[in-house]
Amino acid sequence: MSRKPKLLVTRLTPPNVEARIARDYDAAVNPEDIIMTTEELLEKAQGCDAILCSPTEPMPAEVIERLPSSVRMLATFSVGYDQIDVPAATARGIKVGNTPGVLDDATADIAMLCLLGAARMAHNAGTVLRTGAWQRWEPTGLLGVHVTGKRLGIIGMGRIGRALAKRARGFDMEIHYSNRSRLTPELEAGAVYHQDPEEMLPQCDFLSFNCPLTEQTRHFLNRERIALLPDGAVVVNTARGPVVEDAALIEALKSGKIAAAGLDVFEGEPAFDKAYLDLPNAFLLPHIGSATVETRDAMGFKCLDNLDAFFAGRPLPAPVN
Ligand code: DGY
Repeated sequence: MSRKPKLLVTRLTPPNVEARIARDYDAAVNPEDIIMTTEELLEKAQGCDAILCSPTEPMPAEVIERLPSSVRMLATFSVGYDQIDVPAATARGIKVGNTPGVLDDATADIAMLCLLGAARMAHNAGTVLRTGAWQRWEPTGLLGVHVTGKRLGIIGMGRIGRALAKRARGFDMEIHYSNRSRLTPELEAGAVYHQDPEEMLPQCDFLSFNCPLTEQTRHFLNRERIALLPDGAVVVNTARGPVVEDAALIEALKSGKIAAAGLDVFEGEPAFDKAYLDLPNAFLLPHIGSATVETRDAMGFKCLDNLDAFFAGRPLPAPVN
C-alpha cells in the first residue's frame, strides 16, 4: 500500500502509542475518549482500512456484517476478544489481532492484590480507618483468612494464570489448576492438574479465574459450583465478569459460604451489580488488570505491530483468526 493506511482508533491511547499512530497511519483518533455508539462507529469507519478497537465496542455478528467493505482488519487493544464475533469477522475476510503476552505480569499482580485484599478484608479494614471507626487494636477484630500454605485453584492456566501461580508460590500456596489441556511438567512447575474443574473445586481454599470468556466459562461459578467449594473459600476474578453468576456469589458472600471475594471485572461493567458495594467482604476494583503505563504502551504497540504486519503483507505477531 503506497498511501498510509486509514485507521479508525476508537479510544484515546497512551501518548507514545498516539505518536506512532500519527507517524504511520492516516488516523481518525478520539482525543476526548468518548465511547462511540455502534452507529457512530459504523459511520466513522467509512473508508477506513482497519479499526484499532477495544473491549468497549461490542462487535457481534450484526455489527461485523455492517462494517464498511473497506475495513479489512480489527486490532483490539486487549488480550480478551470476547466482544468480537470472530467467526463472523473471518466469514467477511476481516483479520483480527489481539495483545497477548504483554499484560501477564500486570494482570497477575492485580489477581494477587485481589487475592490478598479479599483474604485480609482490606476493603472493610480501609473503611474502618477512613470513617473514623478505628477506636483500638483488637485481638479479635478485622480478622481475615490466612494465605500461607493454602490451596489455590486456578481456572485457566495460560500465561496470566501461570504468572499468578508464580506469585502465589512466593506465598507458599499449593497450586491446583484446570485448563483445556495439561501443561508440560516445566510449565506446570509442580501444580496439580484437574481435567475436570468441578473435581478441583472441593480442593480450592482460594479460586481464581484467569480464563477467557467462552460459552463454556460463562456463568461457570453458579450456586451448584459454589456449593462444591470448601466453606469459607475465597473467590478471585480478574478474567471477565460473566464467568461468575453475580446473584449466586453475592448470596454466598452474605451467608459466609464464601468468606471473601476479590473482583476486578463484572458482568455488564461498568454498570455492575451494586449489591457488591454493601458487602464488607468484597474487595472491588474497576477493571485495572493491565493498567500500568508500561503495559498500556506495550498493548498499544502490539496492536500497531499487528496492523503494520497486516499492511506489509506479513503474518500477524498476534493473530486471533
Ligand atoms: C484485556 O486485555 O483483555 C483486558 O482485560 C482489558 O480488557
